Amino acid sequence: QKDPLVLFMPSGKRGRFPVGTPVLDAARKLGVYVESVCGGRATCGRCQIVVQEGNFAKHKIVSSNDHISEKGAKEDRYEKIRGLPDGRRLSCSAQILGDLVIDVPQDTVINAQVVRKAATDRVIERNAAVQLCYVEVDEPDMHKPLGDLDRLKVMLEKDWGWKDLLIAPHLIPQVQGILRKGNWAVTAAIHRDMDSSRPFIVGLWPGLKNEAYGVACDIGSTTIAMHLVSLLSGRIAASSGASNPQIRFGEDLMSRVSYVMMNPDGREAMTKAVREAVNGLIGKVCAEGEVDRHDILDMVFVANPIMHHLFLGIDPTELGQAPFALAVSGALQYWAHEIDIDVNRGARLYMLPCIAGHVGADAAGATLAEGPYRQDKMMLLVDVGTNAEIVLGNKDRVVAASSPTGPAFEGAEISSGQRAAPGAIERVRIDPVTLEPRFRVIGVEKWSDEEGFAEAAASVGVTGICGSAIIEIVAEMYLSGIISEDGVVDGAMAAKSPRIIPNGRTFSYLLHEGEQRITVTQNDIRAIQLAKAALYAGIKLLMEKQGVDHVDTIRFAGAFGSFIDPKYAMVLGLIPDCDLDDVKAVGNAAGTGALMALLNRGHRREIEQTVSKIEKIETALESKFQEHFVNAMAMPNKVDSFPKLST
Ligand code: FES
Repeated sequence: QKDPLVLFMPSGKRGRFPVGTPVLDAARKLGVYVESVCGGRATCGRCQIVVQEGNFAKHKIVSSNDHISEKGAKEDRYEKIRGLPDGRRLSCSAQILGDLVIDVPQDTVINAQVVRKAATDRVIERNAAVQLCYVEVDEPDMHKPLGDLDRLKVMLEKDWGWKDLLIAPHLIPQVQGILRKGNWAVTAAIHRDMDSSRPFIVGLWPGLKNEAYGVACDIGSTTIAMHLVSLLSGRIAASSGASNPQIRFGEDLMSRVSYVMMNPDGREAMTKAVREAVNGLIGKVCAEGEVDRHDILDMVFVANPIMHHLFLGIDPTELGQAPFALAVSGALQYWAHEIDIDVNRGARLYMLPCIAGHVGADAAGATLAEGPYRQDKMMLLVDVGTNAEIVLGNKDRVVAASSPTGPAFEGAEISSGQRAAPGAIERVRIDPVTLEPRFRVIGVEKWSDEEGFAEAAASVGVTGICGSAIIEIVAEMYLSGIISEDGVVDGAMAAKSPRIIPNGRTFSYLLHEGEQRITVTQNDIRAIQLAKAALYAGIKLLMEKQGVDHVDTIRFAGAFGSFIDPKYAMVLGLIPDCDLDDVKAVGNAAGTGALMALLNRGHRREIEQTVSKIEKIETALESKFQEHFVNAMAMPNKVDSFPKLST
C-alpha cells in the first residue's frame, strides 16, 4: 500500500507522505511556503490551510475531510482563544490520513484595486526575506557559562535550523532584558537575504510576536507610491501615494540634475526632501492600516535612475550627460536607518538593480512584474514619462533602451496642458463631418454634449487638457482630416468649421470656449509628434535588434498608460502594430515588481539575473535612430503600416 498522496495548491507541488505526517511538515519537504511563527506549537495561527474536498481526476486524488485528522486538543484550544475562519485548519496540527488536496490561502492577490486596470489578477507566492521564529530558551545555569544570546542561538538552530546566525548590533544590549521579560520565551525576526548570506537576527520581542510588515515603494519623479504588506500573510494592509516634494526643485528629471549642478547643497536638499516624503508616506499607510511603523522589518524600493541616486544620497550629475554613467547598477542593500528611514531599527532596505543610465530600477520592477523573459511571446513593455523606458523581449533575449520623449505626454509643453486633476479634459471625440468636439472632464460624470453638463461642470470648470487626452485629440484631429499625415492643421478647413482658427502663420483647433479658451495649436501637435516619434524610434530600434517586424503583446506601465486608449496610441503611431486585445495597461507595474520582491526573495535573485542579461541599447549612439525618428513624425508612420488597426 502506497503512502497517501498530497497535492498543494496553487503551486501544484505534490508528494507521498506516511499517515500521521503533519501537513506543515509535508509542505516544508516539498518546498511549499506555509508561514509559521511558533514552530508548530499551535499558538501563532500562521500555518492555516484549507482541505479541498472532491475528486481531482486530473491529479488522481480523491480528497475529503476524512483524510485529515480531527482537530486535536492544541488546535481546539487555538480555535477557542483566537478563532479559525470556516474551513481553515492549522497545518502544524492537522495530520495526513489519506490522499489530500490542500489549498494554501494566498492573501496577496494584486488586482484592480491595487493596480488600476491591471491586466490580470496575480498571486504572489510568499517567501519573504524576514521570518518570525518563536523559541523557548533554556534558563541560565551556573554550571554552563554559555551567554544568553548564545543559548538563544542554540534554540534558533535546534527548533528552526538557523546556523551561523549573526545579530544586528543594536540588539545585543537588549537581549537579556527581552529574554527575562518574555520569561525565556521570545520571538526573533530572522533576515535570510543579507549580503553576507548568513542569516541575521534583526528583531527580538518577548513572548510570541505574530506580525511583521514590509513596505514596497516606487519613487517616481512626480509621485511616490507605497504598499504596506504583512510579511506573514501577504495581506496588503494599505496602499497610498504622495507627491514627490522634489518638484519644487524642478518639474522634470533633467531640471533636478541641473539644480544639483548649480547649487552646492542641491543634492543634499533633494535627498532630504524625498526621504522626508517617504517617512511621511510610511506614517500615512501605517495609520490607514493601523500598523505600528516599528513593526516594519523589510523594505523594497524601485525608482528611475535619478530618483534612485537622489534617494540614496548619490550625486546624479553623471546621469545628466553622456555616457550617462550610473554610480552603481547592481541591487543594493542597506539598514533602513542608514537612509534615514524611520521604521524598526533592524529593518533592511533592498533596492532593485538599474538596467542602464536611463532605464532604472523602476523598469527592472516592471520587467519583474510583467516577465517578458518568462514567455515565448515577444512582449513590448513601455513606461512613458519624460523619458520612455522600453523593454522588448521573450525568454530567449531581452533588450532595453530609453528614449527622450520629453514631457509632452504628461501635458507639459502643451499650450492648454495640465496635470490629470478635476477640470482637465480626459476624453475627446470629433465629429468627422461637422468637426464639432465632445469631451469628458475629470470630476464630471457627463459628456460635454449631454444635457446638464454645464451645471455638472460648474464646480470644477473646464481648465485644460491632460496628457492622455492630448493623444486622443491629436488622433481624432487626424481621423477627421483636420490635420494632415504630416501633422499640419489644414487652414482650408476654416471655411468648413469655425473651430479652425488662425494663429499667426498657422491654425489652431478650438476645443472649448468658456471661462478659459482651450485650443490645440500647431505647436502642441508638433510637441506630440516629436514625443511619439522619439518613442516609436526607440521601439523600432529594439525591434531591429531583436530581428522582428512585429510584437505579440504590448504592456503600458505607469499612470500615463492607464489612461490612454490603446487604439488612439496606435492611430498616432506611438506603438507598433499589434492586436488591440493584446495591448494592456498594467498600472504601476514597477510598484508591483517591488511588492513581488518584498514578498518573495526568490524574485530578487530572478530580477538580478535577468537585469545582468538584458542588452542595453543606447539610442543616442544608434545611427538608425534618426531615420526611424523622421519616419515616425508622420501619422501614423511614413513607412510602417498598421494592418491590425483597420480590422
Ligand atoms: Fe504556529 Fe501552526 S505553526 S499555529
